Amino acid sequence: MKRFVNYLLIAVAIAFSGCVKKAGEPAAPAANVSGQEIEKKVDALLAKMTLEEKIGQLNQYTSRWEMTGPAPGGDENQVLQEIKSGRVGSMLNVTGAQATLEAQKLAVENSRLKIPMIFGYDVIHGYKTMFPIPLGEAASWDPQVAELSARVAAKEAAAAGLHWTFAPMMDISRDARWGRVMEGSGEDTFLGTQMAVARIKGFQGDNLASTETVAACAKHYAAYGFAEGGRDYNTVDISEATLRNVVLPPFKAAVEAGVATVMNSFNEIGGMPATISTHLLRDILKGEWGFDGFVVSDWNSIGELIPHGVAANKEEAARLAITAGSDMDMEGACYITLKEQVEKGVVKEALIDDAVRRILRIKFRLGLFDDPYQYSDPEREKNTLLSPENLAAAREVARKSIVLLKNEGGLLPLKKEGQRIAVIGELAASKDVPLGSWRASADPNSAVSLLEGIQKAVSNPAAVTFAKGPDYIVGQRAFQTKLQYNTTNRQGIAEAVAAARNASVVVMALGEDCFQTGEGRSQTEIGLKGLQQELLDAVYQVNKNVVVVLMNGRPLEITRMAGTVPSIVEAWHLGSEAGNAIADVLFGDYNPAGKLPVSFPRAVGQLPLYYNHKNTGRPTGDENVVFWSQYNDQPNTPLFPFGYGLSYTTFSYEELKMSSETLAKNGTLQVSVKVKNTGSVAGEEVVQLYLRDLVGSLTRPVKELKGFEKVMIQPGETKEVQFTLTPADLAFFTAQGKWEAEPGDFKLWVGPNSAEGLEAAFTLQ
Ligand code: BGC
Repeated sequence: MKRFVNYLLIAVAIAFSGCVKKAGEPAAPAANVSGQEIEKKVDALLAKMTLEEKIGQLNQYTSRWEMTGPAPGGDENQVLQEIKSGRVGSMLNVTGAQATLEAQKLAVENSRLKIPMIFGYDVIHGYKTMFPIPLGEAASWDPQVAELSARVAAKEAAAAGLHWTFAPMMDISRDARWGRVMEGSGEDTFLGTQMAVARIKGFQGDNLASTETVAACAKHYAAYGFAEGGRDYNTVDISEATLRNVVLPPFKAAVEAGVATVMNSFNEIGGMPATISTHLLRDILKGEWGFDGFVVSDWNSIGELIPHGVAANKEEAARLAITAGSDMDMEGACYITLKEQVEKGVVKEALIDDAVRRILRIKFRLGLFDDPYQYSDPEREKNTLLSPENLAAAREVARKSIVLLKNEGGLLPLKKEGQRIAVIGELAASKDVPLGSWRASADPNSAVSLLEGIQKAVSNPAAVTFAKGPDYIVGQRAFQTKLQYNTTNRQGIAEAVAAARNASVVVMALGEDCFQTGEGRSQTEIGLKGLQQELLDAVYQVNKNVVVVLMNGRPLEITRMAGTVPSIVEAWHLGSEAGNAIADVLFGDYNPAGKLPVSFPRAVGQLPLYYNHKNTGRPTGDENVVFWSQYNDQPNTPLFPFGYGLSYTTFSYEELKMSSETLAKNGTLQVSVKVKNTGSVAGEEVVQLYLRDLVGSLTRPVKELKGFEKVMIQPGETKEVQFTLTPADLAFFTAQGKWEAEPGDFKLWVGPNSAEGLEAAFTLQ
């Protein structure tokens, strides 16, 4: 086992250390020009531009082009003309070295000022080599893992001629009904911030002009994850305090990390669509935080100001959006109205200049003016996509994203020989579902299925039987269309039961098709759909040794399952190497160490559910009386709490110590704890530190994550884990509208998840 782990780690480390050059890889990246030089160049170019050319830079259109070039068609031809005349600043969804090369030529060789276009694409968790969906990756609680996957994704995307990814998505999401939960890092601001910053580092590297990096885009700004009822695109109405304390910190950190672009969100907040929120864009993002990149609208979010009911027509929508600070119009065709509005004097040209300056600045930083074609290199593309080292990285990231939720009686790990294994469920054989939603340019059906992973891992593949069970999805499966679930045709259950009866252990894949989550994929129910629960019940009746492998893009309601089967492995949608990574865990080649980045509810009616909730004025009391903030039919607590995850070993926490019981205004507080591996195999533990501010000028959460550390501990070994707290860690948006720490008493916990831990207390002076 150990040798295998080391092999992977070494292979991944070498491949991404930057010290090994392979045929087809780029020469040294273009020299990064200094900020001042870029500003001069931007000014000089801007001075030469006509109003029409300036407005051209603000337009982004999508493409339906083929890999080899533009496809015929009215719309497309019009876009071609626009590009040639310098009236298109950016395209999205043009992918592939050849296609981007040709599209870029149209702009550079035909337009008067030869300004290159910037090509954007949703590279959310990989370009061709798929990594786990971001929610799954967040379960690694390992920012280095997120940085690695983003770096590989950037390398592949850049080799395919792309300059810009619309990622990372950093929306905090507390409601599992919302389909876009899968795209972010879950419910917590602290964890979400660490993962977002790591992804930005991975995408952008140290040099945007390198042909191995792409510009990142912090999205969706802001509060998109707070859609009422978890229904996508729905109204958001949150307080300034929640906005500042929960939603905005990852964006602020993204700006500090140098993120090149920001995408606004579809939603309104308290009646004001984010796309035209001067407060969000001008005051906070570009003002308080000094963001100097550009803001792209979300898809037609400027045009959607009309149905929102804040603009009567495209002209008004454009005027409101440019005034608020949205710089680029994605697919809205609203900003083309700005020329006339500037000429009439209703929109100031200075607003246009500011937006153009920001867009040109990023194009210069990307090196596009030095060589507009440098990213589009078919040879490099061929050598980079799906390379063995990229796939090794995908496997490494995937297994680190797996969370062991239950393992009663030590059913796991399985043995590679001597066990008859029945693999059951349509998802187990799927080579497509693990690729996940938002799969960029992944080849359909290209993932290693769970079945294949198991067959490769065991010494005798013939001892593995597979029964698909009843159909899960009936009809078409696609990113754009609603899924239909089979609830009536029970064919396949009997075969699955027979397979289970003859097996010593059953591995059952259950959960969600990947297109159950993602954009426009909200659900009112988040349990097992179709006949999955029925299949599980039938199988469990004849064989109690059931390991459920969950594949899903959101927290699921699995209360019934958790009360029966002995083992549950949370495997999300893990990407290209899913089956291998899951097999690594099932057979103990890798000891799982993931922790949940989201709470799993007992019932959908608990949503929104999150560990860092407020206490309320009536938190708890006499159980026989109803006048407490509680449900009468379920406990308030989740089924599995945020931060939860098991290992094949066990850990004990001892000797929580603080350097002092007081923290001075400018001081530091050292916190240490001893963590012992009390089991018989080596394992990693994510040691988590939570705080509670007992009395604030505004109510404070009952617990907030403020630190975590992932440590590898050998059997019998004890490791001391240290945290350093400063008053900055205690700061929040106060009743005075300031970001500061308020003196007073705090509670502190260090433990294995948000519901357990050793407790201490200190006072901030
Ligand atoms: C999504 C964005 C995405 C954009 C471009 C929108 O519908 O909300 O996240 O980047 O489309 O594909």
